[in-house]
Amino acid sequence: MLKFINREAELWQLSNILNAPPNFVLFVYGPKSSGKSTLMMKLATQIKNDVILYDFRAKSPTELHEILTVPRPGFSERVRHYFRKKLRHSNVEDGIVLHPNQIKMMAEGKLDPFAPLVNKLKGLKRPVLILDEIQNLKYSGIDTKDLAQLLNFLVTLTKRLHIAHAIIVTSDCLFIDEIVKQAGLEEASEFMYVGDLPKTNILEWLQEEGMNEVKAKKVFSVVGGRPFDLWISIQHFRSTGGIGVLESLVKRKMSRVKFLLKSVGAKEFRFVKKLSREAISVDEVHPKLLKWAIDNEIAFFDPVNGEIYAISHTMKRALELL
Ligand SMILES: Nc1ncnc2c1ncn2[C@@H]1O[C@H](COP(=O)(O)OP(=O)(O)OP(=O)(O)O)[C@@H](O)[C@H]1O
Ligand SMILES: [Mg+2]
Repeated sequence: MLKFINREAELWQLSNILNAPPNFVLFVYGPKSSGKSTLMMKLATQIKNDVILYDFRAKSPTELHEILTVPRPGFSERVRHYFRKKLRHSNVEDGIVLHPNQIKMMAEGKLDPFAPLVNKLKGLKRPVLILDEIQNLKYSGIDTKDLAQLLNFLVTLTKRLHIAHAIIVTSDCLFIDEIVKQAGLEEASEFMYVGDLPKTNILEWLQEEGMNEVKAKKVFSVVGGRPFDLWISIQHFRSTGGIGVLESLVKRKMSRVKFLLKSVGAKEFRFVKKLSREAISVDEVHPKLLKWAIDNEIAFFDPVNGEIYAISHTMKRALELL
């Protein structure tokens, strides 16, 4: 079992939201590997609500009626599933379960693609819908119109009917910015940032893993509080007893950016050097340059405060060395 490092502040904030009647779509955003999905899983196990955790990375709906739904399995599988959930005290489903005939009728256009979901959700216990990695819809057959319909459905569930909470999780903040504008969600959404873990928790974690204080501080100074990079550092420390992996983590990022810079110009170089020193306001950057840096996982854009950062502490170190 992987260790879960404290996210008390975020869990407290989320449970406050879930204890109130649903009234907005919540966007949980943060850089890649900052621990958003892990936090959602933790939340799901701590609350009594019925949770639908729909992961767009694991599923790839190509049509509107497939989004959020899963076909009801046969009888024996249903029995097995029921006991599995009981054993694990689980309240989490990976989609809204509908009869296959209903899904077929939705596919044929004989039923509205969302109406049956409302009835189903009304029968659940204070339901929470979590849509993880929603940016993957960009690569499916779902077009902008379908996406707007999905978002409007979430607004109906929350702000209009107050039937279910809706949480959208993503690291793609340009995508959020776009869909919030397109679907007119400004007055119907809230945002919550999930970033790196706090320093004190990390130093404790690293020392529990057997590192002395000097090594733990060194790891923090290179990777900061990014859970995934910390996890890599710990795995290497377990097998080698050292923290030599830090250098290769930074070097790998540096070579990747060097390579990318070969096919662009001086303004990209100036931009990444500036990113290594400070946050940059979005109005100072040409949208194309911003998109280049985001698509290549160099920068992270926070749509709430309008600032751009190096995507991780390790990346910041790599950019410093360029
Ligand atoms: N609070 C935590 N304590 C310990 N490890 C964590 C914590 N949060 C995340 N991790 C670890 O960090 C890694 C990345 O976490 P996770 O997949 O949740 O990030 P994410 O923000 O959802 O990433 P992505 O943007 O790619 O979807 C995982 O290996 C996970 O186990
Ligand atoms: Mg995730």
